Amino acid sequence: KKKMILDLDTGVDDALALAYALATPDADLIGVVSSFGNTQVETAAQNTLKLLELLGKSDVPVFVGAAHSSTTDNFETMQVSMDIHGKNAIGDVALPEPKTIPATTSAVDFLIASAHQYADDLVVVPTGPLTNLAAAFKKDPQIADLIGNITLMGGALVVPGNVTPYTEANINQDPEAADYVFKHAKHLVMVGLDVTLQTLLTKQETQKWRDLGTEKGRVFADIFDYYIDAYYNLDINKAGAALHDPLAVGVAVDPNFVTLLPLNMMVDVNDGRTIGDPSRLRDPHKNNYVAVEVDEPFYLERFMNYTLAVLS
Ligand code: BDR
Ligand code: CA
Repeated sequence: KKKMILDLDTGVDDALALAYALATPDADLIGVVSSFGNTQVETAAQNTLKLLELLGKSDVPVFVGAAHSSTTDNFETMQVSMDIHGKNAIGDVALPEPKTIPATTSAVDFLIASAHQYADDLVVVPTGPLTNLAAAFKKDPQIADLIGNITLMGGALVVPGNVTPYTEANINQDPEAADYVFKHAKHLVMVGLDVTLQTLLTKQETQKWRDLGTEKGRVFADIFDYYIDAYYNLDINKAGAALHDPLAVGVAVDPNFVTLLPLNMMVDVNDGRTIGDPSRLRDPHKNNYVAVEVDEPFYLERFMNYTLAVLS
């Protein structure tokens, strides 16, 4: 069985990535790393601790990661995401203070130690900026060749982006880190915005969580309904909101319901656009695979089965 580490900037869809990871029978969640992104890193870590407690999984350790990229304080982008994820990044739903605290080990050191311990059996799923992973690669370059699988939510092969017409938020917030990780990872799967935008959840589905009659079901329905309302009000989509981050978790353990294109990527560090790397385009060795299509009905059914089980 694979060992999974999530790297979350714990906002609304990151919360669902966590629920999906806990439900999947194909991997053990050995820890959650926090990143800035949808919110500040401390808030992301607190959100993760609160959600783990709600889900009865406080034994999963949480590690605090980067507060910002190496080039900016990322203040502006964090402000923008409040419109979509809420001021506390989880739909302004208030959760009790967690009884647990983050681990004393840093996110980078946890990633490095896990890479050495589990190597090919380790799956890392970043659903925020790639700052932590790039820092771990730089501190211990060996681990880039050890980690068996990195499957991330970020970027887009085909426009549009969501921060600018060409760029997606996770990559845009730390383009240098993303470029470094794309180029150095042994095996990296990019689940981009053009694909995740095909996976929508509506209030019909969140009502099913509510109908469970559990506190967890109500909380997750409230959190996601906020996101659906934000998508509606900001005119992103009138029907529902995208299941970005859980799709990366799903693909990390079972790539069979997406179509993957072997294509070595790079990031335009000026704006965070993900593009094919011209210098590695004809390299017969591919270390990057880009999702180009998803079997949406299959994913949605599995997503609902998993989340209904975890929220019961
Ligand atoms: C990504 O950005 C964040 O707002 C979401 O959590 C997701 O990871 C989508 O562009
Ligand atoms: Ca995210």
